[in-house]
Amino acid sequence: MYFSSLPSKTTAVTILFLGVITLTRAHDASYFIPSSNPNPKFGSWSTVRGPITDHFEQWLNENGYTSDDFAQRFFFEFGSYGGRRNESHQVTRTPIIFYHGNEDGALAVPGNYTSGSSSQIEYFLGAGYSSAELYVTTWGTRDSNLSMTNDHSCSMMQLLRRFTLAVMEYTQSRWVNLISHSMGVTIARKIVKGGRIEDDRGGSCDLGEPLTYRVGAFIGITGANYGMCACQGLSEVDETCSATNGFWPGDSCGSNEFKCFSSHLQLPCKQENYSRLLWEMNHDGISEGQRVYSLWTVDDDLILNRAIAWGRPTSFIPGSEAFVFQNLTHMQTKENTTAQQHELLRPFEVYERLTPIPVEMKMGSSSNLLLGFLILLLIVTLILSARSCYGKVMRFNYEQIL
Ligand SMILES: *[C@@H]1O[C@H](CO)[C@@H](O)[C@H](O)[C@H]1NC(C)=O
Ligand SMILES: *[C@@H]1O[C@H](CO)[C@@H](O)[C@H](O)[C@H]1NC(C)=O
Ligand SMILES: *[C@@H]1O[C@H](CO)[C@@H](O)[C@H](O)[C@H]1NC(C)=O
Ligand SMILES: *[C@@H]1O[C@H](CO)[C@@H](O)[C@H](O)[C@H]1NC(C)=O
Ligand SMILES: *[C@@H]1O[C@H](CO)[C@@H](O)[C@H](O)[C@H]1NC(C)=O
Ligand SMILES: *[C@@H]1O[C@H](CO)[C@@H](O)[C@H](O)[C@H]1NC(C)=O
Repeated sequence: MYFSSLPSKTTAVTILFLGVITLTRAHDASYFIPSSNPNPKFGSWSTVRGPITDHFEQWLNENGYTSDDFAQRFFFEFGSYGGRRNESHQVTRTPIIFYHGNEDGALAVPGNYTSGSSSQIEYFLGAGYSSAELYVTTWGTRDSNLSMTNDHSCSMMQLLRRFTLAVMEYTQSRWVNLISHSMGVTIARKIVKGGRIEDDRGGSCDLGEPLTYRVGAFIGITGANYGMCACQGLSEVDETCSATNGFWPGDSCGSNEFKCFSSHLQLPCKQENYSRLLWEMNHDGISEGQRVYSLWTVDDDLILNRAIAWGRPTSFIPGSEAFVFQNLTHMQTKENTTAQQHELLRPFEVYERLTPIPVEMKMGSSSNLLLGFLILLLIVTLILSARSCYGKVMRFNYEQIL
């Protein structure tokens, strides 16, 4: 089992992370979940209502985003969320952008895999955030009958990259924090990394430069970074399982044929022949943010197989810190862990406006220099104290897991 090889260095651990460590050791998901955590409205409509505000929509229209239709009114008030209400409604915390999974959408509608970001937005509103700091739009059709036709297509990826850029521009925030779920994990990873996508429907596109320098925390929940075993043998059948830009996990590895589901390969090997897009993302060395976190559950009812593909935990983002749960479903790992998600992005929660440094500050009178020095001291102190909380508590890489 891969848990056994987790590093046990836990020197600079706060009470908070003692919870997580105990959780991983005991495989106890409920340990960490406060009873005040709002429950998802499973199987019902979202209590949070969109769509994006008129203020945001007007800004989008004035800045060349009209045809992107980020409001997604096709899904009524469940198709999108976010924006300032008016000019005096300020952004006061680092904005969070959510990326939902396949056949899901911005906010909850009745269905098994359609809870959207509702429980997360409810939680963050309760924690003092406002719509000016919480953003999501729907991609795809929300039609479960069509979910197998969705891959990381150029059109969808370019749309969500534009949404990401739009939120960055609109909020003028130094940072954004990204929370992604399921297929949204690999979507958001690629949006941050930028670069080329080969689209198996023909053609290719370039998403542009990496956005890493603008992303504080990147949280990827129950993603499929090494593909999905359910896609084994189906790379030519379902677009979602595409070997180019889908979740194909590879059909063979060394002399093992169709053994994706095995947790112990008889002939050990490291799978390198899987979805080209996923392989490239796992090897390009471009980070998804200043801090990258993977959350998953060994009881994932959608990824199945204890979230293992060819012996590796497929929800693990290379280089990330990992939090592994038990007894949570694929959706609950998003819905029931909102307080942990909040803890993870706290180091980047303070809103800083992205503006050119005023000329007077640049020139530096002695009082400005003193001020600058004090600010620097404050930042260093904050970074050091943040480090002691968020040290290498759970960091490992999959070589250690294998
Ligand atoms: C998880 O579920 C199993 C089986 O129902 C149970 O034995 C175990 O105590 C549960 N663990 C937690 C942490 O709830
Ligand atoms: C997760 O949330 C669901 C729905 O509110 C609840 O039924 C379930 O008990 C929660 N799971 C855990 C492990 O807390
Ligand atoms: C802006 O929105 C806030 C919050 O909805 C409201 O309290 C305020 O009155 C509004 N200001 C104006 C000028 O409309
Ligand atoms: C949700 O899951 C239940 C249990 O597996 C199933 O009976 C039901 O048809 C599903 N609902 C939808 C909308 O797929
Ligand atoms: C999916 O297909 C089933 C069976 O053909 C149909 O009853 C259902 O309405 C379809 N769902 C959607 C969202 O179109
Ligand atoms: C990767 O797998 C495909 C399908 O199984 C196979 O045709 C191809 O030869 C493999 N490529 C390599 C480099 O092993």
